[in-house]
Amino acid sequence: MNDMLAVDMERLDAFEAGLDLLHPERSALPPQILGYGEISAVLAIGDDGLAYKRMPMFHSEEEIDAYRYVFDRYVEQLTIAGVTVTPSRLVTARQRRGAYHVLYLVQPRLPAGAIGNQLVRTADQVGARALLTAVLRELVKVQRFNVAHAGAWALGIDGQISNWALTPQAADTEGALSYFDITTPLIRQAGVELLDAELFLRSAPSFLRWVLRRFFLQDVLDRYYDVRRVVIDLIANLHKEGRTDLIDAWIEHANEVLHNLLPNSAFPPLQRREIDAYYRDDAFIWRFYLAARRIDRTLHRWTGREYPFLLPGRIRR
Ligand SMILES: Nc1ncnc2c1ncn2[C@@H]1O[C@H](COP(=O)(O)OP(=O)(O)O)[C@@H](O)[C@H]1O
Ligand SMILES: [Mg+2]
Repeated sequence: MNDMLAVDMERLDAFEAGLDLLHPERSALPPQILGYGEISAVLAIGDDGLAYKRMPMFHSEEEIDAYRYVFDRYVEQLTIAGVTVTPSRLVTARQRRGAYHVLYLVQPRLPAGAIGNQLVRTADQVGARALLTAVLRELVKVQRFNVAHAGAWALGIDGQISNWALTPQAADTEGALSYFDITTPLIRQAGVELLDAELFLRSAPSFLRWVLRRFFLQDVLDRYYDVRRVVIDLIANLHKEGRTDLIDAWIEHANEVLHNLLPNSAFPPLQRREIDAYYRDDAFIWRFYLAARRIDRTLHRWTGREYPFLLPGRIRR
């Protein structure tokens, strides 16, 4: 399945070696930035048709091996749950970044027009509703998997619209979606989180880490295992995508679809107020978090330490 993901390792090493972290456009091999997430940047390097999600936060090869194990279990169980995962592989750059090992998630480069947030921005009411239905169907698969495997496996998922792409075969938004944001492999075996949650915190400023660990981390993790909260997040992001006009219709549709597909679950209907309240908090938190990371980057510079992450410019929310 991964034959098409042939990575030119020499070039990847040359890229990492020549990467200007503050001004990526000034790099020896300037990348095209396909997207910034909360933690990592997704890059196109040359014209090999691939997308590279850069994760510069590993302390050792053992850590990468442990991560890879969890990643593989996640893809495996998501697939068993019936979710189509975008073909992916993990590749370590030989070039280190100071103390850090840089891991790349490599995937086919998805056309911008096939990615959910682009689709939703331009969709009419009918198309947007079809897209929502398609995402909900996938989330319901995960929910059913979790119910069926209770006590053995649980899968968490980040259902945001920007994490899904139409598969090439799908002619329209009624068609199948594939899930590509798999670098946070949230999977519990017998109730135990397999991923070392500390890895998330590596990208956080050191002066915030203990607060995040103490007050936020568990709640953020739990959120992805709770289908209702995942759907709130999905709908709330319409604010970010500039489609507040769709929110009421999506709430109504989600309530209906989830009521039909998960009839036995206690699923109190979603309310507009909780969507808006959630979004206010969420947008604030991420804006704050990004600002803190910029400060951390400056602190690194003042103290002569390299800051290994690529950070986005201002994000509009
Ligand atoms: N394989 C890919 N091809 C093209 N664009 C991608 C690909 N993977 C990610 N992107 C772009 O980068 C954005 C962030 O990627 P994502 O995997 O969702 O990262 P994060 O975990 O940080 O949210 C996506 O919303 C998308 O726009
Ligand atoms: Mg994402």
